[in-house]
Amino acid sequence: MKKVVVLISGRGSNMQALVNANLPCEIAAVISNKEDAGGLAFAATRNIPTAVLSHKGFSSREAFDAEMIKLIDSYQPDLVVLAGFMRILSADFVNHYQNRLINIHPSLLPSFKGLHTHQQALDAGVKLHGCSVHFVTAELDHGPIIAQAAVPVLPDDTEDSLASRVLTQEHIIYPQSVKWFVEDKLTILENGTVRISH
Ligand code: GAR
Repeated sequence: MKKVVVLISGRGSNMQALVNANLPCEIAAVISNKEDAGGLAFAATRNIPTAVLSHKGFSSREAFDAEMIKLIDSYQPDLVVLAGFMRILSADFVNHYQNRLINIHPSLLPSFKGLHTHQQALDAGVKLHGCSVHFVTAELDHGPIIAQAAVPVLPDDTEDSLASRVLTQEHIIYPQSVKWFVEDKLTILENGTVRISH
């Protein structure tokens, strides 16, 4: 059975959705860069190994990422899942996990990269918004797209109401995407798109 390591920085609702989906893989560890990440307690209740590696105290991004690689690799994962892991990753980190590192981003990429994606969508006046699961490349919020889900933007939406509508979809497409990966159904084509074989 394939092993998956999940990285979080906060509440970890996407990680919880992955665990609750009972996917055909082993969640080998949940790792956070913040010791107060809410998701750690949930993982512990499910007897999933947890670890914390704070980025504070490291002299550089590269130094932290090198230590993170050591920690992650101690679990020998086939797949590393970023689930609200709020760190920009160094090129070395991304290259180390090439084609086995995925992320969920709360927008319909390539629109609205970076932070505050729901406010970005409201400000742009788009009528459809959503979320994307993608393989991670060295460019921020970029890389072959595995799955997307769209939601309507309603006239009275606030950042919070829109975030909540999108999050419901995140909890569907992330477990689905991980399932496809661990079942070897994803192929990254030469043109940088993803083919899903069913
Ligand atoms: C999710 O909405 C995820 O898409 C977003 O952070 C939230 C984490 O929630 N990720 C990013 O913005 C990455 N750039 P969670 O901790 O409850 O899963």
